[in-house]
Amino acid sequence: MQYWHLAAQALACAGWAPGADGVHCSYAGYHPRADGRHRRTAGGPWATTDRIERALAVHIAKRVGQFPGYPLANIPRRKRELIAAGVDVIDVGAGDPVEPPPALASQALEEALRDPAMSKYGFQLGLPAFREAVVRYHQRRFGTAFDPMTEVLPLIGSKEGLAHFALATTNPGDVVIVPEPGYQCYIGGAIASGAEARIAPLRPEANFLVELGELPASVLRRISLVYLNYPNNPTAAVAPRDYLERTVAVCREYGIALAYDNPYVEITFDGYRAPSIFEIEGAREVAVEFHSCSKSFTVTGWRLGWAIGNRELIAALTTVKSYHDTGPFLAVQKAGAVLLDHAEQVVKEAVARFSARRDAAAAALAAAGFEVEVPRATLYLWVPLPEGLKSADFQRMALEEEGVVVMAGSGFGASGEGFFRVALTVGEDRLAEAAERMGRVLARA
Ligand SMILES: Cc1ncc(COP(=O)(O)O)c(C=O)c1O
Repeated sequence: MQYWHLAAQALACAGWAPGADGVHCSYAGYHPRADGRHRRTAGGPWATTDRIERALAVHIAKRVGQFPGYPLANIPRRKRELIAAGVDVIDVGAGDPVEPPPALASQALEEALRDPAMSKYGFQLGLPAFREAVVRYHQRRFGTAFDPMTEVLPLIGSKEGLAHFALATTNPGDVVIVPEPGYQCYIGGAIASGAEARIAPLRPEANFLVELGELPASVLRRISLVYLNYPNNPTAAVAPRDYLERTVAVCREYGIALAYDNPYVEITFDGYRAPSIFEIEGAREVAVEFHSCSKSFTVTGWRLGWAIGNRELIAALTTVKSYHDTGPFLAVQKAGAVLLDHAEQVVKEAVARFSARRDAAAAALAAAGFEVEVPRATLYLWVPLPEGLKSADFQRMALEEEGVVVMAGSGFGASGEGFFRVALTVGEDRLAEAAERMGRVLARA
């Protein structure tokens, strides 16, 4: 009869009675095996045994409970429901512009698809032609020279590279600096590597910069990795050269790996030019820069980016990735090489588009009652909300009452509270319409 006793425990454990840590099931009389899996229950009718087996065999790692809610997790589903119900939804949430990929890229991809060799595994080597195009691009754009084989690594979009980079640089218990508000894969990487994530709040009064030099030496000595992202998502802040110089100096002094996340380097306005971290002396000793084809070239779903920089760090990231993935689709790398060789031309058109949208959105938001700072880079406006209006409430009201998808500042971490983000992903008319609708939310709130 002990069997039925176990069955009851199994069902309790399957969802109604989590263990003390809220994740694991544990109770007297039934113990996980030493190898971490639950003991198989013997005897009894199969149907019931299966139920026990299913209920008890799954282990969910504690770290899963440590990941904060992902900001975009529920929006696509709710958006679809609203559209199905006939709502005219304007989506300025995710940074995913409505434009198709540039024609030359689509043509290159179609051609590549006809070559059977492009449908093989790419492994971490990927397509040497893509690595070489990356190196040519850096030489032309930033005047920096790299070896395509040892200082470049193709990525399945920069997101995975950024998250995996923590596994390549960080031991459990090390400190990882995570800017907040920020792109969520930094905290994801820190958690996955067992690091102590130290949140660095980006504050308007400090120009949204993370000042490593303000940390005590006792903390600096424990830092394995710092993530930095300028031009910044979501604040649209840019980093002055002297800031980058002092940051690189601190990283060199303490042997800290610097993940410089630079997907918006091309999206700059009004004569501002964003640098590569490798324009800063000494950066090569400590840094890897992460680039993305997604936004500059309107190919978000193709999943193509690259890491470039310090040879040892690139080798470590290559090792980690070898055990997680097999590299980007070779045909996409081939088209990516074409894109990079035409980067200046393609980007020029995209920047003209984003610039017009930025101006239209800023003017319309101001007319709707918001305080807007006009950014010099990125495809985002980071807009403050009036005191007392929570960003998650504003996001919900904008979507449910006016059919506008925006990102709540708090979705980028607690330090983003009090702001919301508008992505310049739709045309000027739609941005103006979205601003007007959000103005109505503001007036009612
Ligand atoms: C700051 C930042 N880094 C990295 C990425 C990832 O880009 P992808 O993985 O598409 O290359 C994004 C995407 O929104 C981003 O905003």
